[in-house]
Amino acid sequence: MITKVGVVGCGLMGSGIAEVSARKDLMVVVVESDVLAVEQGMRRVDNSLSRALKAKKITEEQLESARSKITYDTDMGSLFDCDIVIEAIVESESAKEEVFRTLDKVVVKDNAILASNTSSIPIMKLAMATSRPETVVGIHFFNPVPVLPLVEIVRSLLTSPDTEERATDFVEKMLSKHVIRSKDRAGFIVNALLIPYILSAIRMFESGFASAEDIDAGMVEGCAHPMGPLALADLIGLDTTQAVAQSLYEEFKEPLYAPPPLLSRMCEAGLLGRKTKRGFYSYG
Ligand code: NAI
Repeated sequence: MITKVGVVGCGLMGSGIAEVSARKDLMVVVVESDVLAVEQGMRRVDNSLSRALKAKKITEEQLESARSKITYDTDMGSLFDCDIVIEAIVESESAKEEVFRTLDKVVVKDNAILASNTSSIPIMKLAMATSRPETVVGIHFFNPVPVLPLVEIVRSLLTSPDTEERATDFVEKMLSKHVIRSKDRAGFIVNALLIPYILSAIRMFESGFASAEDIDAGMVEGCAHPMGPLALADLIGLDTTQAVAQSLYEEFKEPLYAPPPLLSRMCEAGLLGRKTKRGFYSYG
């Protein structure tokens, strides 16, 4: 029975995971790296709840109830009695391994699920940072979490069937999301297909072949995609897009996964998309 959810990292994704869990009446403990990041994370959750209220998706009471279910901390020790912890920090293998090493020490419940929201890092690598790889599983949400119904469940070679089943029940029955299952290869199902497509659009733009607006309009108006690949890269975050491409390239060594130089230069310049107000487009 899952009643208490831990979330590590309260950026774009962690804030959404905390929000949807709290909106389903679960107790949520959010851990961020420092006080400033806690404040930013809290603001992200509050702004998203306010948007849901404005759109009449929730009532004032539901907003207040969800807010009251979430506590914020900078100490991983506060996750000790969680039934499930979902890691959603930056897409860095070494940083995530460090988080899993710590979770292994602090989470005391025997059968607690230790999950990662990673887009691309093989779950086995994170599982082996713990002494309980059978409880480690990938639970990969999509952005924006309160809106998109899909979740990929990724079972490593060592994830126990019981962990996979409980993680699936949690996502389907408690969060009311739709589960698809993937084996443990970098990028899983969705990003293994999506990232080469986005990278092709960046290469097309980089070569001067077409403008960003025309590339995106081509896919929106010609293929009925809700947004074009360059606008989508801005939404995901160019740093995350690059990190996911790197994981895929490291795993498969296929040129189609290699980050194009323009993507690397934009990341070095701090042009990370919507989160920095400038990427392939400018925002606000
Ligand atoms: P983000 O950059 O918006 O947020 C990451 C957060 O983690 C930041 O607030 C940062 O302060 C925090 N953090 C970093 N190290 C930490 C630590 N040691 N302890 C606690 N907090 C820490 O990144 P975003 O986009 O939320 O991505 C998070 C994860 O979700 C990544 O693994 C990414 O691949 C995955 N993901 C991202 C999607 C997207 O569209 N951006 C979609 C699906 C998954």
